[in-house]
Amino acid sequence: MNPDFYSRVADEFGEYTSGGLRTDVFPDGDPEAAFDELAKGLAGRDGRLVDVGCADGRSLLRIAPAFADVLGIDMSESMLAAARRTCAELGLDHVAFERRDASRTGLPDGGADVLTSRRGPLFPGEFHRVLRPGGHLVYMGIGETDVRELKETFGRGQLYGRWDGRPVMDEVVEELTGAGFTVVLEKAFRTEEFYHSPVELDRFLRQVPIFEDYDSTADRAAFERYVASAGSDRGVRLDRHWFVVRARRTI
Ligand SMILES: C[S@@+](CC[C@H](N)C(=O)[O-])C[C@H]1O[C@@H](n2cnc3c(N)ncnc32)[C@H](O)[C@@H]1O
Repeated sequence: MNPDFYSRVADEFGEYTSGGLRTDVFPDGDPEAAFDELAKGLAGRDGRLVDVGCADGRSLLRIAPAFADVLGIDMSESMLAAARRTCAELGLDHVAFERRDASRTGLPDGGADVLTSRRGPLFPGEFHRVLRPGGHLVYMGIGETDVRELKETFGRGQLYGRWDGRPVMDEVVEELTGAGFTVVLEKAFRTEEFYHSPVELDRFLRQVPIFEDYDSTADRAAFERYVASAGSDRGVRLDRHWFVVRARRTI
């Protein structure tokens, strides 16, 4: 997970947008909405929330009003600048954004009631330390079969070939359990995205780290092969795979 990549995206597009006009189909429900509901349901009256890898804060700012005190952390200054701008526009003065490394945040022991990381970094030991006993982590990760057909066509990409190995969600559950969490919910989400045209899919690929080195010109042949195989009446299909885990600090 390379913060420089995200800074380049924020500098070019002004935010972290997963861009590209598309229609989504959610056979297992909308993972973003499920994540929001899970996190907001844990807020309580005086809830203190830390969001790790908040990027431009868009997803954090949706759930922030449910909490009394909110901190978003990220390593990319460009993303944090975008987050502070949006936060000021919304007038949310109980939300702060700070540049901190998720692996050693420097935050006080047990200072958070809820910690969220949505496609952000996962450092179970550090997250355990920052959460109060009984506090909850809500984590969204990328599943091993995410955009598999696209990556097979390109012959590379994030988690390339991982579909032959152990499910990522199982590994996350094991890591969290080993760090002193009890996993209370684990759910996979398969979703279909239909990009309205090849131009929209190209725009999407330039803004996400599926291929950090994606180049519209150099990758043209593979891109066209994929569009030919995944095109349909509804658009160019991408099969996504996410998972959400909720875990409680029990030790
Ligand atoms: C895929 S983005 C997720 C953005 C956001 N959570 C969302 O749901 O849209 C991952 C973010 O994690 C940040 N990041 C990567 N490594 C980090 C680290 N060690 N500490 C803090 N943030 C990190 C990146 O800069 C990036 O903004």
